[in-house]
Amino acid sequence: MLDKIEQRIKFLRDEINKYDYHYYVLAEPLISDYEYDQLYKELEKLEAEYPQFITPDSPTQRVGKDLTKEFKPVNHLFPMLSLSNTYTEEDLIDFDKRIKKEIQEDEVEYVVEYKIDGASISLRYTNGQLVTAATRGDGNVGEDITNNAKTIRAIPLKIPLELVEKYNLTEFEARGEIYMSISDFNLLNSERLKSGEKTFANPRNFAAGSLKLQDPQIVAERKLNVFLYALLGTGIKSSTHWENLNILKECGFRINPHSKLCKNIKEVIDYCNHLESKRNSLDYEVDGAVIKVNSLLIQQQLGNIAKSPRWAVAYKFKAKQAKTKIRDIVWQVGRTGAVTPVAELEPVFLAGSKISRATLHNYDEIKRKDIRVGDSVIIEKGGDVIPKVVEVIKEERKPDSIETKPPEKCPVCNSKIYFPDNEAAAYCENYECPAQIKARLVHFASRGAMDIEGLGDALIDLLVDKGFLKSFPDIYKLKNYRDELIKIERLGQKSVDKLLANIEKSKKQPFHKVLFALGIRYVGAGVSQKLVEHFSNINELINASEESLNAIYEIGPNISKSIIRFFSDKNNLKIIEDLINLGLNFETEKRETNTKNFFTGKTFVLTGTLNSLSREEASQKIIELGGKVSSSVSKNTDYVIAGEKAGSKLDKANSLGIKILNEEEFLQFLKEAEKTIND
Ligand code: IVH
Repeated sequence: MLDKIEQRIKFLRDEINKYDYHYYVLAEPLISDYEYDQLYKELEKLEAEYPQFITPDSPTQRVGKDLTKEFKPVNHLFPMLSLSNTYTEEDLIDFDKRIKKEIQEDEVEYVVEYKIDGASISLRYTNGQLVTAATRGDGNVGEDITNNAKTIRAIPLKIPLELVEKYNLTEFEARGEIYMSISDFNLLNSERLKSGEKTFANPRNFAAGSLKLQDPQIVAERKLNVFLYALLGTGIKSSTHWENLNILKECGFRINPHSKLCKNIKEVIDYCNHLESKRNSLDYEVDGAVIKVNSLLIQQQLGNIAKSPRWAVAYKFKAKQAKTKIRDIVWQVGRTGAVTPVAELEPVFLAGSKISRATLHNYDEIKRKDIRVGDSVIIEKGGDVIPKVVEVIKEERKPDSIETKPPEKCPVCNSKIYFPDNEAAAYCENYECPAQIKARLVHFASRGAMDIEGLGDALIDLLVDKGFLKSFPDIYKLKNYRDELIKIERLGQKSVDKLLANIEKSKKQPFHKVLFALGIRYVGAGVSQKLVEHFSNINELINASEESLNAIYEIGPNISKSIIRFFSDKNNLKIIEDLINLGLNFETEKRETNTKNFFTGKTFVLTGTLNSLSREEASQKIIELGGKVSSSVSKNTDYVIAGEKAGSKLDKANSLGIKILNEEEFLQFLKEAEKTIND
């Protein structure tokens, strides 16, 4: 009897897995939804009565009931690399030439695939069973999202053991992209709109966000899908990427049907153009093609530079365009007081999201393109950027249309607008303008800065309007107004306490984030990081001269001037003093290199491409070892480090008689210096 039940459970499990495969992977349903539901219900019922027969690959085990409290770190078996980009046919020809030269071959085979615009995933299988699903993370360590990935029916929970044996797949990782189809995404958004819920920005963010939800039951309701594009493991019986794709397919994974094996770079280019011309007929977002060397041996020979393989590149497609109409042109005030024009558009779908606004950059741009309210326009969106108006269709313009005028007064505080001579931007010069106050605070609390969870746009608007917030220190004084805050509609005790706790927590943010949070013009996250490498506390930075700032690699005159201007304002100094007293971090632990080494006190200039590390990494290492890195060669330069394709800096160094190090010599010095430090 029990035997029979076990057999029936196994039969149902295999049947349902087969129907899932046909439905979700092949998109060829074999039975009706009703018949499927009957089988599923029977399996659920039997498993409830005989839980001893539940196996991890049962379809009923896809959706767990437990919340994922934290996403644990997962070490990838092989790093998850990113791709460098190419944009033109010439770029592709160069890529091919480089490879042929390196491996001394006349012709190389490539596989061309769509580059799916979703969230990357790595699925690890041991002995044919799915054991872990992980996000990309930093490329070496991802986050464990197994519970969420299992809800995606196109992901097999197990693969047939005979195939494990046939291809030696005892331990492997299948890599791919999780995405949501454009039609499902649009349907979801229109339903949310109807029920008054906030819509999602685009399918990519939606997919990435879904994988990080704590409740797998919610993930299961989201129609996520997957395309696998890589198979990795040791000893797999295959010698090409094309074979790998076919093995994945045979094992039941979902593979994009538009991939092609190309004999040479000419075929690659033709096929890239073909893929680009067909992109609008797809029901998923793609942002380019990926070109991969087919032979795994050649892939291995070519290896990687920094975080990208040398055997693959992405070929980016041109930005997608759409036609729409300008309903209105409004002026927005940013945190620096810049007043920028924004076009309000008749909503259109473009690159997976509904667009109803586009930036017009500045008044000069409006004048140059003669953009007017009521105009029919072509808008464009590339990657992550905000859509922009590329062209006005003048033939469709009504005769009574009016030329757009620059703003005279700030749309928010009515102050006079100022147009600096050398800039296209217009400014509201009132530092107390509510729009500027709000934008500064939003930036201060944002994720890359003080990262105060819960203190977003809407709450800042409210707290500024109610007079609680005006400048950064006010945020840290909110705890004195707890009772008043609780009385504000929408807030309540629990959320106020949570907010206050998050505010306190933000005091631990490191110096470079605090510096970034201050919102000094041109001082973004990267520049802040650079600055704290050179100035270990805020006083050193406040007292820095323009020359010493300019001497820092990658810090140009505009940034230096802006920093000097910021710290010469008494108001700003007072804010910093208050923030120091409130306990924010304005200093960093500078790594003192007490042992003198080759780099200590010397100035280096980097030029050309280094193979084993990026310029950024090289300069970081030099600085850590007590050296300086400058962007231009002068008589103060001690050494020029010249990588491949070094240009004019190398010529200048030669003419000044400055010593040159090639990559190998530089690495050797690095190794020795690091050894002295570690000893
Ligand atoms: S191959 C070493 N193939 O693009 C090669 N990546 O920068 C690594 N992506 O986030 C990736 N479609 O998830 C490859 N057909 C495809 C892809 C693809 C999308 C994503 C990938 C990663 C990024 C690579």
